[in-house]
Amino acid sequence: MDEPSVTEPGRPERLERPERSERPVRASAEGAEVAGDAVAAEEAVAAGDAVIATRALTKRYRGGQLAVDGLDLTVPAGSVFGFLGPNGSGKTTTIRMLMGLIEPTSGTARVLGRPMPRAARAVLPRVGALIEGPALYGFLSGRDNLLRYDAADPTADPRTRRARVAAALDRVGLAAAAGKKAKAYSLGMKQRLGLAAALLQPRRLLVLDEPTNGLDPQGMREIRTLVRELAGDGTTVFLSSHLLDEIEQVCTHAAVMARGRLITQGPVAELAAGRRGRLVVTTPDTGDAARVLKERGAAGIVIAGDRVTAQPPDGDLADLNAALVAAGVRVRGFGTERASLEDAFVALTGEGFDVAG
Ligand SMILES: Nc1ncnc2c1ncn2[C@@H]1O[C@H](COP(=O)(O)OP(=O)(O)O)[C@@H](O)[C@H]1O
Ligand SMILES: [Mg+2]
Repeated sequence: MDEPSVTEPGRPERLERPERSERPVRASAEGAEVAGDAVAAEEAVAAGDAVIATRALTKRYRGGQLAVDGLDLTVPAGSVFGFLGPNGSGKTTTIRMLMGLIEPTSGTARVLGRPMPRAARAVLPRVGALIEGPALYGFLSGRDNLLRYDAADPTADPRTRRARVAAALDRVGLAAAAGKKAKAYSLGMKQRLGLAAALLQPRRLLVLDEPTNGLDPQGMREIRTLVRELAGDGTTVFLSSHLLDEIEQVCTHAAVMARGRLITQGPVAELAAGRRGRLVVTTPDTGDAARVLKERGAAGIVIAGDRVTAQPPDGDLADLNAALVAAGVRVRGFGTERASLEDAFVALTGEGFDVAG
């Protein structure tokens, strides 16, 4: 990329992308296409459609890498949707297809009820996006970066520009640092400036690719707070992360990716609830307990102090408890922890979560 920009989708060259006509046109749903304006996008979503919906969305890069494999994603309006997966699982590739930055190899993607990339010109002004960290002009102040960015958006009203830039800077907590050169910004400040760019206009949807990447815990908390506030205003937020607890803390819904495929999606509470949490056995006989658990099919056994924890096997846990007692293990405590998204991930993929691409 040779021209710096704060976020990609609003760049003028994206908006000038010629609309495609070779795609199959389905009569009713695509009727709004002819109208070709943002009002149609609004109506499609108001009718209760998902804000993002993909069907069999697939991307194979030229080198042959199957990065996204038959993805069926449904993001409900008003959700804070976590797009979760280890590095290399296909999150950024999916987001780039959703934003019309790259073409799918096959399958379809609809954003705000309209097909992408075909309807990019109508859809993108309603979407704020932060993809793979913001690119900035280091020699310009944060404020001037935003002014310049907004000026490149043909749908942005120049008369309200300065006020909108000031409001966006304030929103992300950069008002005091607005006059500083961007190259003097910390990573967290740069990330927040990128978010401010996504907030220059009212948005129906915010798409944030790993918004807390590289931030310290304080910076991560600030982004989470901001995401909650935005969601409170009714904006649907779609954010990717490779951090499980981040998704659990802020998201109402989540989809889990592994190796380009969708493992599961739904409300966060339901994803975890369908799973058993880790089994915890408290006993002075930890070695024997671990052996019995292993024989009975428990996985991921960890001994710490007088606690043995494991991913429980299928079947009645009462039988497992009885087996421990029969083997002479003095069981002082036996139970399961509340299931987390991580348990769901491990149960669904058979892998730990921290696997890198
Ligand atoms: N431009 C590209 N050309 C070829 N392969 C790519 C390209 N971008 C990403 N990939 C590969 O596609 C897979 C998914 O990558 P990516 O979508 O960036 O995953 P994530 O964002 O979840 O880390 C990885 O194996 C990655 O190496
Ligand atoms: Mg990525």
